[in-house]
Amino acid sequence: MKDINSPKNLYFDVHVFCCINERAAGHPRGSCSLRGSIALQEYMKARAKDLKSNIRLRINKSGCLDRCELGPVMVIYPEGIWYHYDDENDIDEILESHIAKGVLVDRLLIDSKQRTLPPRKSQRLCLKVSAVEEFAHDICRYELTSADGADLPVFEPGAHIDLFTGQGLRRSYSLAGDSRDRKKYVLGVRREKPSRGGSDWLIDQLSVGDSVEASSPANNFPVDWSASHHLLIAGGIGITPMMAMGHEMHQRGASFHLYFCAPDEAHAPFLDEIKSIFDDRHTLHFDNGDPTQGIPLTSLLSQQEGNAHVYVCGPPGLVTAVRESSAHWTEGATHWEQFVPALESVAKKNDAFEIVLSRQNLKLTVGEDETILQAIRKAGVEIESSCEDGLCGCCRVKILGGVPEHRDLVLTDLEKSDNQEIMICISRAKAGETLILDL
Ligand code: FES
Ligand code: FES
Repeated sequence: MKDINSPKNLYFDVHVFCCINERAAGHPRGSCSLRGSIALQEYMKARAKDLKSNIRLRINKSGCLDRCELGPVMVIYPEGIWYHYDDENDIDEILESHIAKGVLVDRLLIDSKQRTLPPRKSQRLCLKVSAVEEFAHDICRYELTSADGADLPVFEPGAHIDLFTGQGLRRSYSLAGDSRDRKKYVLGVRREKPSRGGSDWLIDQLSVGDSVEASSPANNFPVDWSASHHLLIAGGIGITPMMAMGHEMHQRGASFHLYFCAPDEAHAPFLDEIKSIFDDRHTLHFDNGDPTQGIPLTSLLSQQEGNAHVYVCGPPGLVTAVRESSAHWTEGATHWEQFVPALESVAKKNDAFEIVLSRQNLKLTVGEDETILQAIRKAGVEIESSCEDGLCGCCRVKILGGVPEHRDLVLTDLEKSDNQEIMICISRAKAGETLILDL
């Protein structure tokens, strides 16, 4: 009699089944396809062909594997090992470690009894302060390098990192250096008034040689490289992302011009670097606090030359004025980022509503005086956040059902109308809606 467990019975050495089950939006269990499994299964199949290995490998699609809350899921035979995965990096690791070397990917394993999936914690970079300089009034320039001297993760112009402060806070700072320089990140940090703790801690406590943890770079303010001309408008500390943009535009030979406004020279960070990067493609406005002496936005933005795009970063008044003055420009040609919340979202009246945490089998009520983030934490689910003002994108969550009322300044108008994601620190549900969240 043949032994059913004999390896000789295997037609494939490794047989992978990736669930690509589809369910309509709004189902409380969600589905693997709603969480991106169709594209990831195709990616895995394509990448498997590159594996330098003699194993007979098959990557198949499957229907629902009944572990929807943990999805996207895959099961790998003959061992019957289950994995949850989120993105192409996870797939690469499963291929290169489990399949090519037979080494389990512990961080993605799901065990046989597991029914819920805690929100994933972001990976942290270990950085060292290599230089600090107060280069404008209450504004410091920091250079951060990798603690072990390795190359830093790449970033795109407009990106930011979050620093984890000694008081357990997490604060976002735009990257101001050359995105092609893998050896250092450059930040400009202004002391906040009133301070919420982050900038005070950095400026008062962090010195050359100190270590600090940071998130990987993320970008809510990307450059559209298809534009024929880039108009950069910055106010005060809002110059930081423009510095990285200027570096890259200069190296690409793009057409660009910077308009930078500050009260006076003493309050204007990066002045020397602005002169060297932007050369004759910048205009400074020192307004001494008088808005009539600021950047003449109405005339500057009265006409959109060709496929020009405008980028603005700075105080809410400046951002609003640029958005209003360029309202007649083509859709998507105005890009903005601001560091304080819009007043209208702070003042809005709230109603209570319900949310379903699809991966936790939990239904919660969000009271009129609390945010979704607070309600989730009250229920004992740990979840990361940073600004808690709808500015940084750290608390972004996928929506599996229901219609949100977006109040953040991270998503574009197009993304808001798609209703695929929500910033749970500030946005809410539309009246009468229950939100089903991929948490
Ligand atoms: S939808 Fe994928 S396991 Fe159910
Ligand atoms: S924590 Fe920053 S957008 Fe929510």
